[in-house]
Amino acid sequence: MKILQINASTRGPESQSLSVAENLIEKLKASSGVSVDTMDLFDGSMPAFDANAVGAKMALFTGAEATSEQKATWATVEEVFNRFASADVYVVNTPLWNNGIPYVLKQLIDLVTQPGWAFGFDPENGYSGLLTGKRAFIVHASGVYYEGISPNFGSDFATPYLDDWFKFIGVTEVEHIHVAPTVVNADYPTTKAKAITKAEAAAGAAVAA
Ligand SMILES: Cc1cc2nc3c(=O)[nH]c(=O)nc-3n(C[C@H](O)[C@H](O)[C@H](O)COP(=O)(O)O)c2cc1C
Repeated sequence: MKILQINASTRGPESQSLSVAENLIEKLKASSGVSVDTMDLFDGSMPAFDANAVGAKMALFTGAEATSEQKATWATVEEVFNRFASADVYVVNTPLWNNGIPYVLKQLIDLVTQPGWAFGFDPENGYSGLLTGKRAFIVHASGVYYEGISPNFGSDFATPYLDDWFKFIGVTEVEHIHVAPTVVNADYPTTKAKAITKAEAAAGAAVAA
């Protein structure tokens, strides 16, 4: 089993989502033959999905000849995709940023969501995901928002978006684990500790299931 760990937090050892994701990975590693590849999305190594990448993608759509710069960029996109597609299990950790996902996670999504690689399209039946037979665990951390809090405290568009995206590319078994609230609370240290304990228990249950 090959795990692709995708870390979308900038905060290293301070990250609440990373800490729960690493705890979850330790539980997955209890099975034999598990390897872990780690993508740290803020390490600056991910290529931009820029004009050359869009040009190469549009050339594929229209059957036009891509320029040499577009072809070179597309090779870097394919490299990211191949790394992504080679995993059996995804363990993503992400903070909630402005009610959604951090931009680097969207960058990864734009890099790997390619026709013929991640999804197929049929004019009569629509889209079909191609990355089947895989599972995803997503650990979300949010400072203020938690499920059930008043709308005055924000929203969570990250959970439905990532759920929809994984299903779109064919990963139908998706578990969400929430660590929240991690920051704003009248009794911050106690609530944060409780949020982590609860999230680790949810991660344990998700792995066991
Ligand atoms: C740019 C930015 C935007 C944020 N937006 C939200 C938000 O919309 N809602 C919320 O509850 N917390 C928000 N937070 C707080 C983080 O979600 C929180 O600190 C979380 O624990 C960070 O995840 P991490 O501990 O894994 O790094 C934001 C933090 C930053 C830095």
